[in-house]
Amino acid sequence: MTVTARTIVLAARPDGAPEPSDFRMESAVLPEPGQGEVLLQTLWLSLDPYMRGRMSEGPSYAAATELGQSLPTEAVARVLASGDAAFRVGDIVAVHDQWRDHMIRNAGDLRKLDPTQAPVQTALGVMGMPGMTAYTGLKHIGKPKAGETVVVGAASGAVGALVGQMARLGGARAVGLAGGADKCAYVTDTLGFDACIDRNAPDMAAQLAAACPKGIDVYFELTGGAIFDAVLPLLNPFARVPVCGTIATYNATRLPAGPDRTPALLRAILTKSLTFRGFIVSEFWGDAPEFYHQMADWLKASDIRYREDVTEGLDQMVPTFIGMLEGRNFGKTLIKLAD
Ligand SMILES: NC(=O)c1ccc[n+]([C@@H]2O[C@H](COP(=O)([O-])OP(=O)(O)OC[C@H]3O[C@@H](n4cnc5c(N)ncnc54)[C@H](OP(=O)(O)O)[C@@H]3O)[C@@H](O)[C@H]2O)c1
Repeated sequence: MTVTARTIVLAARPDGAPEPSDFRMESAVLPEPGQGEVLLQTLWLSLDPYMRGRMSEGPSYAAATELGQSLPTEAVARVLASGDAAFRVGDIVAVHDQWRDHMIRNAGDLRKLDPTQAPVQTALGVMGMPGMTAYTGLKHIGKPKAGETVVVGAASGAVGALVGQMARLGGARAVGLAGGADKCAYVTDTLGFDACIDRNAPDMAAQLAAACPKGIDVYFELTGGAIFDAVLPLLNPFARVPVCGTIATYNATRLPAGPDRTPALLRAILTKSLTFRGFIVSEFWGDAPEFYHQMADWLKASDIRYREDVTEGLDQMVPTFIGMLEGRNFGKTLIKLAD
């Protein structure tokens, strides 16, 4: 079987927001899979904000992607040919991969999925990395108690939507922020958050204060920026802040204008005994079996709802990625390559 793989590679490092010209498509004919290898056809690719970080050089928890190399992603793929007894043609697997439509991988890199248990693409969202992020950030750092108030931005997105729902399952109040009336209506009416505020409203900070009359006990940080500024004065003594992402700053090329606010932040941390704790979900991979089990139960009971924002075709990967960083996605961002 002759298969040509198309791969999107990094052509230039962006200065600010990524541009289509920062990427290019390359093609290569793949060899037959060898012993212990599997030829895969990509069915679904995940787009996640962390990928923006891999495009730039600079200190981070992971090395930048080299120019001419493809960015990382999570993929769901079908086995087209197998050189390993553990995988048969037609099996569906999850794999940490790259922005491409076919690949040869070692069998040991693959996690077999059961398509009868859940739609396979949920392995990239609610049953995958974003779900684990919400679950472990709350379990290990946020630790919301019944009756407490939990606030999260990007509340209609992959992680934020789950943070609020999980908080409510534990008896806490969930207040979200999202970009626009449609997203906010979904967050309250479908996901069941107690309130949701449009992050673009001119009086966003006042609306947030009104929605949190007893202050904020857990702020699950996904965005930074104006949302963080509005949250900080509302944090209660002993509030917990899992610092998970700061998407408002991912395209920034310099510090924001204005005075240095670090002293005020340190004063708040000190005088209110606040806990700020950064984390990368990989720190908690050991929780994966517990998470899969719990999430499967929640989904079966319809306790957790999720929404996918699906775009078709590898050619749409770059514009969809740029749009996600601008908040144009509504739900978990996915690229569908094949049925
Ligand atoms: N630490 C970890 O291991 C880990 C793992 C997964 C994700 N994360 C982080 O979690 C955050 C959410 O990721 P996700 O996958 O769930 O993405 P997502 O919410 O599905 O999509 C990104 C959303 O961010 C919001 N946004 C964009 N620009 C913004 C701005 N300037 N201010 C406020 N919000 C803005 C937009 O929503 P609205 O327009 O509705 O506001 C956009 O839809 C990201 O910061 C990501 O890096 C961290």
